[in-house]
Amino acid sequence: MPIQATSKIWHNGNLIPWEQANIHVMSHVIHYGSSVFEGIRAYGQPHGSAVFRLPEHMQRLLDSAKIYRMELPFDIEELCAGVVELIEANGVAPCYIRPIALRGYGEIGVSPKGSPVEVYIANFPWGKYIAGHGGADVCVSSWNRLAPNTMPSLAKAGANYMNSQLIHMEAEINGYAEGIGLDVNGLVSEGSGENIFVVRNGVIYTPPLSNSALSGITRDSVLTISRHLGLTVKERSLPRELLYIADEVFFTGTAAEVQPIRSIDRILIGDGKSGVPCDESSLQGWKPGEITKKIADEFFGIANGLKPDRFGWLTPVKVNATEPVGA
Ligand SMILES: Cc1ncc(COP(=O)(O)O)c(C=O)c1O
Repeated sequence: MPIQATSKIWHNGNLIPWEQANIHVMSHVIHYGSSVFEGIRAYGQPHGSAVFRLPEHMQRLLDSAKIYRMELPFDIEELCAGVVELIEANGVAPCYIRPIALRGYGEIGVSPKGSPVEVYIANFPWGKYIAGHGGADVCVSSWNRLAPNTMPSLAKAGANYMNSQLIHMEAEINGYAEGIGLDVNGLVSEGSGENIFVVRNGVIYTPPLSNSALSGITRDSVLTISRHLGLTVKERSLPRELLYIADEVFFTGTAAEVQPIRSIDRILIGDGKSGVPCDESSLQGWKPGEITKKIADEFFGIANGLKPDRFGWLTPVKVNATEPVGA
C-alpha cells in the first residue's frame, strides 16, 4: 500500500513540511544501513484517539540506539512529546507512527563517527498489514533469522530488515501472506515483522528472546493480557513441528496487531486431524481458536478504548477519530 503523505514530519525537534524531509544519497545510512526505528499505532477511541504504549516504544528506540552507540540528542519525554505534537499538528489519527534515528551525511568510511545522528518522526494512515481477515496462510521460510552475536536482534535496526525482506519476499512469491523464520539452530523465532504465539492443550507458548526474536511491545501486551485472563503462558523454545500440530497459532506486532494463522506450509491449524488436504473448502470453513479470540478481544478492546486501560497503555492525543485503523 503506497504511503499516504501527511502535512508535517518532526525533524530534530521541529515540524517541517513532508516534502522537505529528505536526506542526501551519500548519507551513512544509505550505504551501511545505520538506522534504528520504531513502529507505533494510534487508535480511535470513543472520544478522540490514543497512542498505544508510546513510552515503551520510545524506550526500545533508545535501547536500539544504545546498542549501536548512537547518541540521540533527545530523551524519552521529548520523543514522546514529539509524537503527540506531530499527530495533533497533522490531524491524522488513527495512524501509524514511524520514528527513525539515522546516521546522516558526513564521512564515507564505515566508522560512523563523522556522520551526524538525525531523528525524524512521521505519521500517516495505515490499515491492516497481513492479508486474510479470518486467518493468514503462512510458511516456514528457508531463510533463518539473525544469528546471535551477528546482527543484534534486540535492536530494531534498519539493517535487520534485509533479512526480513528475504523471508517476506520468498513467502509472497510462493503465495503465502507471511514467512516464519527459524533461528540458526532450527528453532522457531518469529515472522519477518511479527512475534509468534502457539497454543497447545490450553497452554500458550512463545519463543524466548534468546531465539533471535525482537522484544515486541505487542508480544509483551499479549503476555500481560494472557496472565490477566488467567491463561497459562510460557516462554519456551519451540521446535518447528509444534507449529503444525498446534491448536492455535497467531502473530503479534504493531503492524500485524493480533493476527490468527490459518495454515502453515499448507497444513491447516487446529483441525485435530491428520493427513487432511488443506483444500479450498477446509480453508473456507476455518475459524480462529477460542484463546486467540479472547486475547484479541481484550487487545483491541483496550486499544480502541472499549475496555478500561487497566495497564496504563494509552497516551491520549487531541484528534477526533471515529473509526479504528485495522477494524
Ligand atoms: C522482526 C519483528 N519482530 C516482532 C515485531 C513485533 O514488535 P512490536 O509488537 O513491538 O511491533 C516486529 C515489529 O516491529 C518486527 O519487525
